[in-house]
Amino acid sequence: MSKVVLCYSGGLDTTVCIPLLKERYGFAEVITVTVDVGQPESEVRRAEERGKRYADRHYTVDAKEEFVNAVFQLVKANGDYEGYVLGTALARPIIAEKVAEVAKKENADAVAHGATGKGNDQLRFDNIFLQHGFKVIAPMRELNLTREWEIEYANEHGIDIPVTKDKPWSIDENIWSRSIEGGKLEDPSYVPPDEIYEWTKGGKTEEEIITIEFEKGIPVALNGKKMNGIELIMALNEIGGKHRIGRTDMMEDRVLGLKARENYEHPAATILITAHRDLEKLVLSRRELKFKRFVEEEWAELVYYGLVNDPLFHALNAFIDKTQERVTGWVKLKLGDGYVMPVARDSEYSLYDEELTSFDSIVVDQSLAEGFSMFHGLQGRVFYRVVKNRRN
Ligand code: ARG
Repeated sequence: MSKVVLCYSGGLDTTVCIPLLKERYGFAEVITVTVDVGQPESEVRRAEERGKRYADRHYTVDAKEEFVNAVFQLVKANGDYEGYVLGTALARPIIAEKVAEVAKKENADAVAHGATGKGNDQLRFDNIFLQHGFKVIAPMRELNLTREWEIEYANEHGIDIPVTKDKPWSIDENIWSRSIEGGKLEDPSYVPPDEIYEWTKGGKTEEEIITIEFEKGIPVALNGKKMNGIELIMALNEIGGKHRIGRTDMMEDRVLGLKARENYEHPAATILITAHRDLEKLVLSRRELKFKRFVEEEWAELVYYGLVNDPLFHALNAFIDKTQERVTGWVKLKLGDGYVMPVARDSEYSLYDEELTSFDSIVVDQSLAEGFSMFHGLQGRVFYRVVKNRRN
């Protein structure tokens, strides 16, 4: 008896996959797995209910904690790919790991997912599934189905078409970000209506100042109140959302080379990375900061590409963790309509030295700087003289 474990969201695509895996691929048993990475509770419940109804067996796996741990590593890395906060990218390998665990337990012959052949998600899922030795089936990529065909097929198989609030775009949501793509939004020259945004609807306009505390690069408290990761991210999504902080409308280079217009909202991500970067500037040396920027870019690209099993990823994390040993302290941020700005910071590891820097201090003998200045820019001045002499 052949078994396949399907990565399941409860939406039309992945639900249509259930009968397809039996009819087109000949599996006797289809087992659905929904992984909770902080998408809305109602979405998880809907997937669970539909999985139980249409598949032979269903699992719901809670991976919120693992996901938040990954998100906090992202904060340490100031994770950003071309301006994108990497929410979907970071979640996919975790989802794939959880699905692979079920597939092993179930002794499945294959795993399946609903990603298309045009995006990045197929690469992120496949990489982890293949690592665990599974055959991967991706019906959406293999069969080139249209939405109309899927609806008809669903009707024939007694599958309800999920009411997706009638929005003509594709949403991918987790605790870190909400991505909105497809439909009219695909056209880069189209100005999106405000209604595509749900987390950042605004409403509150007076400025406010919040305080975030970090321990070794990890945010641990908001306004003096200790919180676990999930609570902290949810609280910041709420506060930041009121100020319409963290919207992105961008052109993105997909792994395959396709350019795509993407819209995202991510209030907590924007606030936390703004705060974290600011604290790093207080405690890390100029050279650490400069070198870390290269590390961050490489780190973000590996995450975007779904290559989190590459040994380089582990090596970069080791470097990042080393730098974060001193990223302990607090940052105050001013939040206003659509913006967040650091306004104060402090740390026991601060490299700011009032005695040295202050205009009012006399500890440093300023006249010594004259000698330094004699050599500073020396080659440029020699060059200027040489070029000037040749012209005459
Ligand atoms: N462009 C983003 C990424 O590659 C988001 C993808 C969102 N996926 C989706 N099925 N809507 O990570």
